[in-house]
Amino acid sequence: MSEFLSACRREPTAFTPIWLMRQAGRYQPEYRALRERYGFVEMCKNSEVAAEVTLLPVSQLNVDAAIIFADILLILEPLGIGFRFTPDDGPRIDAPIRSAAAVDAVASEIDPEESLGYVLKAIQYTRSGLPARVPLIGFSGAPFTLASYVIEGGGSRDYMHTKALMFSDPGAWNALMDKLTAALVRYLNAQVKAGAQALQVFDSWVGCLNPSDYQTYVQPHMKRLFRELDRSVPVIHFGTGNPALYPLMKAAGGDVIGLDFRSDLGATWDVLGDTAVMGNLDPYSLLAPREELQRRAAKVLAGARGRAGHIFNLGHGIFPEAPVEQVRALVDFVHAESAR
Ligand code: CP3
Repeated sequence: MSEFLSACRREPTAFTPIWLMRQAGRYQPEYRALRERYGFVEMCKNSEVAAEVTLLPVSQLNVDAAIIFADILLILEPLGIGFRFTPDDGPRIDAPIRSAAAVDAVASEIDPEESLGYVLKAIQYTRSGLPARVPLIGFSGAPFTLASYVIEGGGSRDYMHTKALMFSDPGAWNALMDKLTAALVRYLNAQVKAGAQALQVFDSWVGCLNPSDYQTYVQPHMKRLFRELDRSVPVIHFGTGNPALYPLMKAAGGDVIGLDFRSDLGATWDVLGDTAVMGNLDPYSLLAPREELQRRAAKVLAGARGRAGHIFNLGHGIFPEAPVEQVRALVDFVHAESAR
């Protein structure tokens, strides 16, 4: 029995399950120690180390789900798109894709067993080390978020190049989204086959679009993605930056809608209706004094108003400066407060 999987299916739970996006990472001294020995991608490609890192927060924090240690950009390698992680600027794409010809050169098929087998192996290793009550989440980026990285060449504030391609060459845009969607379906379904018990699709940067452009340029691809995914496991559909997109994201698909910290969880759930929801404490609440952190977490819990189907999470990934004791206190508080 897993409270996390029950909540994904909107079944009543004894307490509100909690896990944290990016729960394995630099805020943990053990992670930082491992990172002194390995590069980030090297760590992802070493399945034993990736499994060890995935398991760290489970024993330390008592969270109710694990998420496989990997990155949304790893799929770019088999697609033929070179990238690297820089210590200062984050990810960098070697040759950003900004033309129809560049889109043509992207691989149209991937074999995840062959090219991303290290992630699948890490999933198998992690499963054998996890207690039965803690399910393992597999994940990928969403087509838009990946497209924005490969077009911009890295992170972006304005998504200028992405919108330029989208608005001026919709044929090339859709061809790129088609290739990404097909590859993501194969990759995510391979993760389920390897043992992932839930999936999360991260559309981290989609909030730069207005609802009408989301409907035109993104939603058809998201509908296809959710239609073609192995639905023997629940799927979390997460997006940030623009609360007006949540109804359209729900219409595109997913058993759970992941809310960022900008929206009111209760009010958004009222609007969305029949879905499970995940979220959405502002991550920087972890820097507040303990009582304030708890008051803010209690407010998120109260927004659920006892409805079945709430998974507690931060409204975006945890950050390197988060104090570990505060993170632990948050998990304990959510368990205790929701069990009363
Ligand atoms: O949640 C987890 O614990 C699983 C691991 C995970 C990572 N990245 C590890 C990681 C997950 C789920 C991701 C997803 C991811 N990667 C997203 C979507 C989530 C989100 O926050 O919106 C995005 C946008 C990326 C791309 C990415 N990876 C960036 C922008 C960066 C650099 C910035 C940063 O936070 O360092 C990364 C690197 C990265 N991915 C790290 C980790 C632990 C840090 C690497 C290091 O040790 O230096």
